[in-house]
Amino acid sequence: MYMQNPETQTLTMLGIESSCDDTAAAVVRHRVGGAAEILSSVVFDQAALHADFGGIVPEIAARAHAEKLDLCVEEALLQAGLGLRDLDAIAVTAGPGLIGGVLSGVMCAKGLAVGTGLPLIGVNHLAGHALTPRMTDQLEYPYLMLLVSGGHCQFLIVRGFDDFTRLGGTIDDAPGEAFDKTARLLGLGQPGGPEVEKAASDGDPKRFRFPRPLLDRPDCDMSFSGLKTALRRARDGLIAEKGGLTRHDVADLSAGFQAAIRDVLVEKSRRAMQAFLASEAPENPAFAVAGGVAANGAIRAGLTELCQTQGLKFLAPPLQYCTDNAAMIAWAGLENFRAGRVSDLSLTARPRWPLDQKSRPMLGSGKKGAKA
Ligand code: KG4
Ligand code: ZN
Repeated sequence: MYMQNPETQTLTMLGIESSCDDTAAAVVRHRVGGAAEILSSVVFDQAALHADFGGIVPEIAARAHAEKLDLCVEEALLQAGLGLRDLDAIAVTAGPGLIGGVLSGVMCAKGLAVGTGLPLIGVNHLAGHALTPRMTDQLEYPYLMLLVSGGHCQFLIVRGFDDFTRLGGTIDDAPGEAFDKTARLLGLGQPGGPEVEKAASDGDPKRFRFPRPLLDRPDCDMSFSGLKTALRRARDGLIAEKGGLTRHDVADLSAGFQAAIRDVLVEKSRRAMQAFLASEAPENPAFAVAGGVAANGAIRAGLTELCQTQGLKFLAPPLQYCTDNAAMIAWAGLENFRAGRVSDLSLTARPRWPLDQKSRPMLGSGKKGAKA
């Protein structure tokens, strides 16, 4: 196949994602100077397979990815109306994540690359999230990003497709994980975030005052594991006192918990914004969020208001591209490919792969073990 210069060529990229509990494939096309076209984005979720276990079982996830990846790729190509020969390259999540799942994706992508002769590009899953606002909104570098999901929570200055500075992040649980655990403690369903948000909607956030950890520290680090302990204590106190929880109690506990998470995220975002503005002095400062927790109305409202007072544009990509998907992997692959970054067949799956190699590594992990 005659290859034009990838710096200027219109590119059509297949993306493959399997680092957690979603098997995903997508086709994204991009012409230099234009908006990205997401020709398809297919996500097979595994929620039903893990439902009985109260969390993701890595072995079940890996097996399900291996079974579904080829079907998912086939479906993504079908929905895009394209065949393998219409692609320019194949991008795949090579980490961080659950190793069995990442390995399934990498092997699938390698097989396709060998069979078609197309270039292969290993992508960092977190870079996929962090670059999403460029795919959805053509956001220019540099910008400030908050990744906040079930497995991740970090502030990043994004200066280029492989130039990230982590300003801080959680030192233990991710907020989504805290929402999920809270839902379990209150007898609500999974995933916990939307359930807790619904319960909180008619609750009194002031009845229970939960801690706002690490606000006494000037940095952008956060901690959420103590919150669930405080919530458990409040719950157990009510049960000991009255023999159970009323609907009102659940609503008030949910509202108090959600307010604590919102306050920590808003205050630490304010500090991250100050650090970003001081170090980059951007012409049109922007703050983008991604990850499932960014769907939360109260948190979103808090961050939107903060952006208004701090003079930054607020960007939240559509939810299906905020949560795990393969379009973001295809897009990150496109940016790598344009810069001449391709992988070879020695590409390996990496359970850990911090985006910012210079900063001190973060402690702890999220539900994905995606320590970064
Ligand atoms: O980004 P995502 O789909 O997967 C990960 O990479 O983790 O995020 C899933 C997480 C879950 O923990 C879920 O409870 C949380 O995002 N979540 C929410 C809401 N919707 C999803 N948390 C709070 N409020 C919501 N509305
Ligand atoms: Zn993710």
